[in-house]
Amino acid sequence: MTEHLTTNEGQPWSDNQHSQTAGQRGPVLIQDYQLLEKLAHFNRERIPERVVHAKGAGAKGYFKVTRDMSAYTKAAVFSGVGKQTPLITRFSQVAGEAGYPDTYRDVRGFAVKFYTEAGNYDIVGNNTPVFFVNDPLKFPDFIHSQKRDPRTHARSQDMQWDFWSLSPESVHQVTILMSDRGIPASYRMMHGYGSHTFKWVNAAGEQFWVKYHFKTNQGVHNLSNELAAKLAGQDTDYLQNDLLNAIEQKDNPSWTVAVQIVPYEEGLNYKYDIFDVTKVISQKDYPLIEIGQMVLDENPTNNFEDIEELAFSPANLVPGIEASPDKLLQGRLFGYKDAERYRLGANYEQLPVNRPQVAVHNYARDGAMAQNQASGVNYEPNSSDGPTEVPTAQVHGDQLTGKTGHYAVNDDYYAAAGRLYRLLSAAEQTRLIDNIVMNLGQVTKPAIQIREVRQFYQADPEYGQRVASGLGLALEQIKI
Ligand code: HEM
Repeated sequence: MTEHLTTNEGQPWSDNQHSQTAGQRGPVLIQDYQLLEKLAHFNRERIPERVVHAKGAGAKGYFKVTRDMSAYTKAAVFSGVGKQTPLITRFSQVAGEAGYPDTYRDVRGFAVKFYTEAGNYDIVGNNTPVFFVNDPLKFPDFIHSQKRDPRTHARSQDMQWDFWSLSPESVHQVTILMSDRGIPASYRMMHGYGSHTFKWVNAAGEQFWVKYHFKTNQGVHNLSNELAAKLAGQDTDYLQNDLLNAIEQKDNPSWTVAVQIVPYEEGLNYKYDIFDVTKVISQKDYPLIEIGQMVLDENPTNNFEDIEELAFSPANLVPGIEASPDKLLQGRLFGYKDAERYRLGANYEQLPVNRPQVAVHNYARDGAMAQNQASGVNYEPNSSDGPTEVPTAQVHGDQLTGKTGHYAVNDDYYAAAGRLYRLLSAAEQTRLIDNIVMNLGQVTKPAIQIREVRQFYQADPEYGQRVASGLGLALEQIKI
């Protein structure tokens, strides 16, 4: 049966094609409430886009446990073989705005919200295991260098390479970004990583360090520069459409979820700093343990409500999973929820897609657009039988030493990039060099090029020499 048109207040709406006018040719009347409301609502349709990762696509699905992990974490989401937890994902570009072409070279976001019985648990990662910087103080500057030049309002190779060339901790991630993996052929065909080291705690209170890996079951596929450029013109939303169409055709994508588990003390004494997100933990030292499958089988029914209003945060943790001292992670624990209060409003956690699938009981009340509020007591302590604390949900402390201060991480950032370069096949190495030469070659200041190539040279002399020769730089210019 056809539904009748109503206003937002539910009143029957008689005519949605012709404004009310004073006579056939007369001016429009202010009593035409439907017209005024329609124009006013239209003016308010846009909300701020995400300050990063503005362009993206998502889908719903579930996580199924294939290996019980209760020996390492009391988080129910990872215990009990066969157990399923509903989830929603969002994949994204980092630097471009909401309408940006999907096939530009960029890191891709890989965010998962598990609706667990202990509340929402988010893994907000990327398709790379490492990141460009490891101190949250550098994040806004890094992102400024990726976004538009304040004067020309254009993206600028000078800006991004200037920042990277002065931030040697970025060279590992820059090598990944310039490799084939910088342009995935599909969100379905890329791996995902939690990137940081997190803490798991079991029911006995034993602590472990953990890294997450989502291995695509579709195989990794990437686009050539030529095809990516063509698609950017032909189908701006190429990756978004690919995900939507696959699920529409019931070709549901899935990922094998695995973890690396590091005993607590061993992690503190590992050969690299496991809380430095520019580094990986060797899979030879700590092999991947498969724990489950993530399957996406449902498209959003309304993109704005399901995806634009979706709010992830690395601070969304559940008992048995805790943050680590990773400095960048610590900054992120603040950044996301603050961004979402600004982007979506103070009560963004009450929006349907963000609402946990368990009851919420606390003393928070009111604020713009508050919904589903309890009518009971709104302060604590109280003598009104209000909700009480859960001592078992307490986090497990780490022993700290040292003095407060601003500490530089004095570390070798080059070796990991060198190892990655040497792992690539000859053809992959050639494409990596070509991509760097193509992008770094557009930089207008030779000093930036020289600084960056010195990083590649320190990673591996051959790597540096090949980029230098592609750019027409002499060996003496890049040797330190
Ligand atoms: C200090 C470092 C970082 C800060 C301050 C930061 C901040 C932010 C902010 C403010 C947003 C937008 C949130 C929203 O409006 O809903 C965002 C989105 C995102 N960030 Fe970060 N970020 C940082 C590092 C990282 C790292 C290291 C990763 C991956 C390992 C990452 C992955 C993501 C993803 C995937 C999204 C998009 C989430 C979505 O689809 O809604 N970020 N970030």
